[in-house]
Parts: sequence; structure tokens; C-alpha cells
Amino acid sequence: MPRKIAAGNWKMNGLQADMVELSKLAADHASAKVDVLICPPATLIAGCKDLPFQIGGQDCHPHESGAHTGDISASMLADAGATAVLTGHSERRTDHGEMDADVAAKSKAAYAAGLKAVICIGETLTEREAGTTLNVIDTQLAGSIPDTATAANTVIAYEPVWAIGTGKVPTLEQIGEVHDHIRAKLAARFDDGADFSLLYGGSVKGSNAVEIFGVSNVDGALVGGASLKAADFSPIIHALEGTSL
Ligand code: 13P
Repeated sequence: MPRKIAAGNWKMNGLQADMVELSKLAADHASAKVDVLICPPATLIAGCKDLPFQIGGQDCHPHESGAHTGDISASMLADAGATAVLTGHSERRTDHGEMDADVAAKSKAAYAAGLKAVICIGETLTEREAGTTLNVIDTQLAGSIPDTATAANTVIAYEPVWAIGTGKVPTLEQIGEVHDHIRAKLAARFDDGADFSLLYGGSVKGSNAVEIFGVSNVDGALVGGASLKAADFSPIIHALEGTSL
């Protein structure tokens, strides 16, 4: 069975003072019935070590060390206390020109450091309107996921680029179509493809989480804006647990 995961991606947000939000979240969710993964900026990772959550980086370099000014390696993230890392987020693909092969290399580096890779994929609005969504997903799945991926070391996050930070959410049918498709592709390629957790991401909020988590093959969410405040993220965790506030 796929694990249920409520993941928060803080992106380039979060100062020491914002750690109070994680303390507040911990007060309510210290023994959550689902996995709670927080991906703060790298500067805050070491300070998260006493929190009852899994902690992840937002990116890693494919190499373990070396002359790569400004980059961070998977083993550094692990050393700071992370157990996971996002790879191939659409903002990395857009801002830094990351291609599928880069994402696969970063994911392999994550495995080598003992980190779980949360591999992000998703189509642009132009691609959706052109009717090529599933082709784009196929290309990203084939190119971004290493052959050594397993349900234990890899999570897939489907994040339509046009839904990120826009308040626009695909219909439940659209989410289900892509998640069912991803599941079928993983099951065809990997022995344990039925067990990979598949997260939906893009404008998830407390108000839409219950219906999104009801869609087939949605095992959780990767949440941006609504993960920054405990008051906003807590209802999403409850929705995934199936518990009331
Ligand atoms: P929002 O939840 O802010 O739309 O961001 C989604 C996202 O990109 C998470 O990685």
C-alpha cells in the first residue's frame, strides 16, 4: 500500500522566526496518522531536528561534493537531518533549466545519500491546452525516474505548472486521469509500482483537500503556500488522515 504523505514545500520562504509555525504544527500533529514531510529552506533544516516530522531539502546537486559554489549535496542534506529531497520541481526546471536527465541524476544522488527522492512532474498550460498532458507525463516519468527507484526510495508528485500558486485547480477528473495514468506506468515499469506514493500539488488548501484526497491514486499532497502557516497546513493533514479538526 502507498504511504499517505502530507508534504509542505516552503520554497524560498522561511526565517528562523518562522520556525514557530512548525512548533505549532507539532503541538497538534506530533503523532499524525500519515507521514508529514516539511521541506523548509536549507538554512532551517538543522534546526528542525527535534520536530516530529520528516524533513526534506528542496533540491540537491548530482555530485556528492566539489567545486559547485552555492549548491548543496544530498549527503549535506542528510547530514543536516533531512530524510528526503524534492527533485525536478517545476520552479527548478524553469528557473535553472533542469532537464529530465538532471532530475534523474539528482534523484540517484539522493538514493546514494540515503534520502527519499520526491520527483516532481507536470505539464504547462500550453501543453494541457494542446492535449499533450499524458505524453508530457510519460516523457518526464521515463526520463526523470532512475531505474533503481523503488516505492521505498521514491515518491512522485504530480504538479500541473498552471495550478502552482495560481489558485487554479484541475477538475477531480483531470487529477484522477493523470494519477491513474502514472500508476499504470509505474506498475508496468517497477515490480512495486503499485506501492509508490503519488502526491498531487498545485493550490491545495484546507477547503479543497478532502475532495482531492478522495480521487483515485492520490496518496497525499505537495503543498506550497498553504504549508507556511500551521493554521493552513493543519486542516490538510487532518483531511489526509480522515480525522476532524
Ligand atoms: P502551491 O500550493 O502554492 O500552489 O504550490 C504548489 C507547489 O509548487 C508545491 O511544490
